[in-house]
This record gives sequence, C-alpha cells and structure tokens, in this order.
Amino acid sequence: MDRYEQVIELAKRRGFLWNSFELYGGTAGFYDYGPLGSTLKRRIEQIWRQLYVIQEGFMEIETPTIGIEDIFVASGHVGGFSDPLCECEECGEAFRADHLVENVTEIADALSNEEVDRLIEDNDVVCPECGGILGKAHEFNLMFKTAIGPGSGRAGYLRPETAQGMFVNFQRLSRYYREKLPFGVTQIGKSYRNEISPRQGVIRLREFTQAEAEIFVDPGNKDHPNFRKFADDILNLYSEEGQQRRTVEKIALKDAVDSGIIAHEFLAYHIGLTNHFLQRVGITADKLRFRQHMKDEMAHYAIDCWDAEIKTERFGWVEVVGIADRTDYDLNAHAKMSNTELAVYREYDEPKMIEQFVVKPDMGKLGPLFKGRSKAVAEVLRSMSRDALDVEEITINIEGEEFIVPSDIITYSQETVKVSGETIIPHVIEPSYGIDRILYSVMEHAFGEEMVPAKEDDEIDANEETRTVLKFRGEIAPVQVAVLPLLTKNELIGPATGIMNALREKGILVSYDASGTIGRRYRRNDEIGTPYSITIDFETLEDNTVTIRDRNSMHQVRTSIENIEEVISDLIYKNRDFETTGIRIE
Ligand code: GLY
Repeated sequence: MDRYEQVIELAKRRGFLWNSFELYGGTAGFYDYGPLGSTLKRRIEQIWRQLYVIQEGFMEIETPTIGIEDIFVASGHVGGFSDPLCECEECGEAFRADHLVENVTEIADALSNEEVDRLIEDNDVVCPECGGILGKAHEFNLMFKTAIGPGSGRAGYLRPETAQGMFVNFQRLSRYYREKLPFGVTQIGKSYRNEISPRQGVIRLREFTQAEAEIFVDPGNKDHPNFRKFADDILNLYSEEGQQRRTVEKIALKDAVDSGIIAHEFLAYHIGLTNHFLQRVGITADKLRFRQHMKDEMAHYAIDCWDAEIKTERFGWVEVVGIADRTDYDLNAHAKMSNTELAVYREYDEPKMIEQFVVKPDMGKLGPLFKGRSKAVAEVLRSMSRDALDVEEITINIEGEEFIVPSDIITYSQETVKVSGETIIPHVIEPSYGIDRILYSVMEHAFGEEMVPAKEDDEIDANEETRTVLKFRGEIAPVQVAVLPLLTKNELIGPATGIMNALREKGILVSYDASGTIGRRYRRNDEIGTPYSITIDFETLEDNTVTIRDRNSMHQVRTSIENIEEVISDLIYKNRDFETTGIRIE
C-alpha cells in the first residue's frame, strides 16, 4: 500500500471518507464525508471563517449552486470552460485527450486538438482500456447543464465556482460596504465540474467544496494596509522564472514584491494569509510551496496568479489554493451582459479642477429626430472625441442600430470643470480554496506509523506494538478528548460521565470509550487523531485525580479533576502543553 492507500483505507474504516453511492457500485469523482470527516471539514472551514470573515472582515454570503445561463456566458464558462475529450470508437470509454499523449510529448497540456490527433495517429496511441481506435479530440464543457422548470425549461448550470454568485451581487455588496474600497466578500459551498475521467480519488472530485473570497480593490492602489503582518515571512516561491530554472526559492514576501516577482502587496498579503492558514490547519511547512502561473496557463480572467501547492506522496505537488488578480474582467463582463454599471463612485478628499472636453448635444433637436433613443444617442455623443465629432455627419451604432447625427446639433469645447469624484471599476483579488484537497493533505501530513513505548506496550497485545496515528492539531481534531473509565464498574462510570458532561458543556467534542484494554483504546483514539485521553481509575475515587495522556508524546500526567475542562481547553486551543498548563508530569 502506498501512503494514499493507507490514508484512504483508514479514512474509510474510521468514518472520514466514503465512496458515494457505494451501495450501487459507486461513481468516480464523488465522496461522502462520514461522521469524523464532516467534523474535520467543519473545523477546517471554521478556521477559514475565523481568518477571512472575522479577522479580515469579509462577510459571508450564500447564493444558489445553480446559475442561469447568462451568468456563465458572461463569465466565459459557457464558451471556454472545457477540457479536450477523446472517446474510444470501440468500447466508448472517455479520456482526457491530453492525458493520452503524455507519454509521447512533454507539452501535452499546451497542444491544440488537431495536434493531439496527429500525435495519436503518428504514435499509434490506442484506447488504454480495450486497445481500440480512438476518435478525434474535441472540447468537452465541464459544467453540468440542467433545465430550470418543466419541459425544456430555462438553461441552468451547476456552478463551477462560487465566485460568480458574489460578482453578480456586486451592486448590493457595494452598497452594504458604503462603496468604500477595498471590501471583500466570502462564500463557502459546493461547486461542480463534470471531469472527463477523474482517476485521482479524493483529489479530483466532480462535486467539491470551495471557500472563496472576492476582494474588490482600487485598481490604482494595490498596496495593502497590513502588509507588514506577513512582509517578513519567508515562503517557498516557485516563480515563473524559477520554473524555467526548476528552482524553488525561499524568499521573504516583501523582497518578492520589491523585486517584482509578486505583482503587488495585495496579492502578496493574501499569499501570506494562505500560508498562515495552511500551516495552522496542519500542513507541513516544507511540503508547501507557492507556484506562479506561467503566462500561457493563466485563466482567461487573470493577470497574475499563484497556486499554493502541497506535496503528497502519490500525486506529487497538488494545487489546493489559487490566489489570483482577476482585474476588472468579471465586473466588466457582467456589466456588459446585464447592461448595468458595476462600479463605485469615489469622492475626492478635495474637489479637483480639471480640463475636460465637453460635448453638449442639443436635446431640443435630438428629441424629435431620435425619439425614444435620443438619450442613448446623446450619451454616446458625450463620450466621443473631438476628431470623431469633427465631421459633417456623425454615424453612431447602438446595439447594431445605426444613427446619423447632423453635426450642427452638437457643440463642444475644452472647459475647466470642478470634479468632486470619479467612477471606478474595482479590480478583484481572489483567494480560492479547494477544501477537500486540503482535508486530504492534512490527513496525509498527520499520518504516521510508530513504535509504542514499553509503558503502553505492556498493556496491549504483542502484535499491537506499533501504532497508526493522525497527529492532527488540537483545534482541528474531530474528536478532541476520549474519556476512558479503566473498568466498566459503576463506581467509575459516575465520575467519567461527570467529566464528559463538563467537557461537552465547554463545547469540547468527547468520545466515551469503555470497551477493550486501555492500550487498545489508546490505539483506537490515536488512529482518529484524538489529541488527549482521560483515564478514570480507582485512584480517582480516592483523591479526585485522573490521568491525561498526550497523543503525540504518549506522556501521561496525573492531575486533579477540578477545572479539567479549562485545562483541556487550554491544551487544545492555546497551544499549551503539560508544562505550560501547570500540570505535573509523572
Ligand atoms: N474561482 C476560481 C476557481 O474556481 O478556480
């Protein structure tokens, strides 16, 4: 078994992750979260909320997971969100066309479909399943399409990203934040991509959870007011240039901005925040790097993008977060599609006197000429240059309709005018997290197999001298404390239940485990990552003390049950250990 199989085997057996629809044979690209998996996921999401919603102040919204067609036409997903598909003409199996030619070229993902067809033909590539002849490569849109309402209905799509739900609410969000840039909004929810042939288990899902922030910033000022918080943090950066040299460099974020590696402070701040989040949930620092997108792989909407990548044993470096400068691409696209201005008005501190070219259409004459369209004609005229107006007849085109305007019904001049503000289309900085991949990586990095020390060894069977352990950080561990009465004797059940209830009241998730040897119970809890176990024995009845065992070090301390819930809470949430909590080590 490789590490992926070990982790997935444990995840299935202990209730973290299950193949969806297993009862009916399952389908690739879908996973269920069992009791422990769901809890782990919520804890990861809660830390994300604590950072993005509470600390950054980016309020969370919730929008439908189905979107109408206009949204995805505007966003570019209907036209361009596709992967190349090749189907076997004999068995009908579908493949990513670029994956079929990976063994015969190093640039498989940069080829046109025609080039893929040629490589397949020249290299006699056949169906990997049945050896049959492969059909021509063509584009396959990755969105799940549906119909809204009965009959043929109105076309709808399951959203491929949560982002669009935030862009289309821009006007209301802007008013909520009183049009003061920068402001941010977040959403955590399901997104869907109908992957052609997902073969990477939990790493490539057709339904997955994204946590996204869209931060609307002034395009003229991409400095970050709190950049110093992360400016000195040294990260593993794999820049565009570094990739050409195949070198990952350790660079402080401020140096990366100063030398132009990262486009600006705002992006660098969010790379820093992502680094902080990923390590806080338990990603190992030296298995984490930030890779800049090469110019030819950048999404259609971005001008600079960095992926947080995590090293996994089977899949190598896996992208888990994309941090992109999406510019004004989305707001412009939705403004055009909806015919609505999506911008903010920024008032200057002091009004400015500026030289302006002013066009004054004579509405008294325009009205009778163009009737209901006269306002639209006047608006276009006001935006035209002196050169364009300096003709006998001005031809303008509005939505395919042509209007001829006699030049004598407008006047224009260069004037000094007082301007108290300006309309600007914000740019968007977007950190976009794939929660499922992060959760898997956290499990893999926490996973270990170790020898058990003699102290615990003598309490277990000879064949259980090694343990499997998930060394989750306390604040993300699904079960935080195991309460273990040494024997199922009534005298011990009373105090054990009392401790369990006190902990639960404090909001700590407790499992109560009274069966099997104590060593076996420790093993069971190590395997699901429970950071602390509390053992209640006959000494408890005499002097009100219990044993607390630390999962990582396997150290045990004997301590009073008074305020045990405070002690445990400090151990879990305040990064304390037995010494700093003030409890005695035996
Ligand atoms: N919103 C960015 C992405 O889904 O990839």
